[in-house]
Amino acid sequence: MTDISIREDKKEILNFKIDLINKRHQEGSLITLLQSAQDSYGYVPEKVIHYISELVGIPSSEIYGVLTFYSQFRLKPMGKNIIRICEGTACHVNGAKTVLSVLQDELGISVDETTDDGLFTLQSVACLGCCSLAPVMMINQETHGNLTTEKIKKVIKSYKSNQHAGVTNEKN
Ligand code: FES
Repeated sequence: MTDISIREDKKEILNFKIDLINKRHQEGSLITLLQSAQDSYGYVPEKVIHYISELVGIPSSEIYGVLTFYSQFRLKPMGKNIIRICEGTACHVNGAKTVLSVLQDELGISVDETTDDGLFTLQSVACLGCCSLAPVMMINQETHGNLTTEKIKKVIKSYKSNQHAGVTNEKN
């Protein structure tokens, strides 16, 4: 680790500590502190759990218990690309299960997991609001509708090579 990255890490931690202390005096809640950590880092890192443990006098093991109880908290960073697969009614009757199965095979992960290379996180949602394009998935802010096995593989390949083309709703 270089001197600059160590300095930046210390600065980041310091800013985070100040933010936590402010929150603590305003609201005094463990959940608020954990939410603040997640807002700052995108997940709740182990080093922060230990810091909060010292700050509030609650053992880290209990804090882990809280984190795993509430589904809003993440213990690992999210992937660079967030894939939201729709499992709403319209998508369900148009093959959402197959879409999910193809995605799981292509990525080697299940729902709520992130690929080892940090490129994709897979999530499931109830409706993406574009039911006429069912079955649908979103990758980040881009909608991909009328999905087929071939199309899913093509889209994933394009994200892997960082050449995705944007909204793709065309048939096949
Ligand atoms: S049910 Fe899938 S977009 Fe609405």
